Amino acid sequence: MFITFEGIDGSGKSTQAKALVSTLQAQGMSCIWTREPGGSEGAEAIRKLLVQGDPDRWSAETEILLFNAARRDHLEKTIQPALLRGATVVCDRYVDSTRVYQGVARADLRHLVDLMHETMIGREADLTFIIDIDPETALGRGLARNSGEDRFEDMGLGFQKRLRAGFLDLAKQYPDRCCVIDGARSVEAVQSAILDAYMLAFS
Ligand code: TMP
Repeated sequence: MFITFEGIDGSGKSTQAKALVSTLQAQGMSCIWTREPGGSEGAEAIRKLLVQGDPDRWSAETEILLFNAARRDHLEKTIQPALLRGATVVCDRYVDSTRVYQGVARADLRHLVDLMHETMIGREADLTFIIDIDPETALGRGLARNSGEDRFEDMGLGFQKRLRAGFLDLAKQYPDRCCVIDGARSVEAVQSAILDAYMLAFS
């Protein structure tokens, strides 16, 4: 199974993705955690170009090319091999982030994102958790981390609001695989909602 976690910056999806992996591993399942951009040596190198520096460093079009280059390497080196040996792959962000960040919030380029995805990647997730949270709360959390990877957080609150709306629209476009989770609760409550949805999806 290929499971992805999506959401705006600071939504808590990384914590939740790692928690799901720990739970599944504790049940004896073969399961790996990975992330985008990144998850393979080459893709981690591309990640640094994307998440650091000035917000104007790249155009949305260039970002689409870079995210796809990173994704293709990640797919070849990490995701496909793990799925082929029967492991469950839990990925922190995937193409839905490109659909929403570059395809909707940065610019009106959704058609280009879908075209690139069909041509160069061709793999959708089986189940996608969208962690939904108020952008003001999330942005405070994201920037407070001061990770040095704040290029997209630096695009401001209006950008995060467009992202939230974009993810909620996306959930409506892909109702079979997308599950929206209310992220404005304790870490434990969100974790338990995710486990319930996981059991329902794969029962
Ligand atoms: P992260 O902070 O969740 O690791 O993600 C890095 C940043 O990259 C985050 O601000 C979202 C952004 N991003 C895109 O803009 N498009 C994409 O396709 C992906 C995977 C991430």
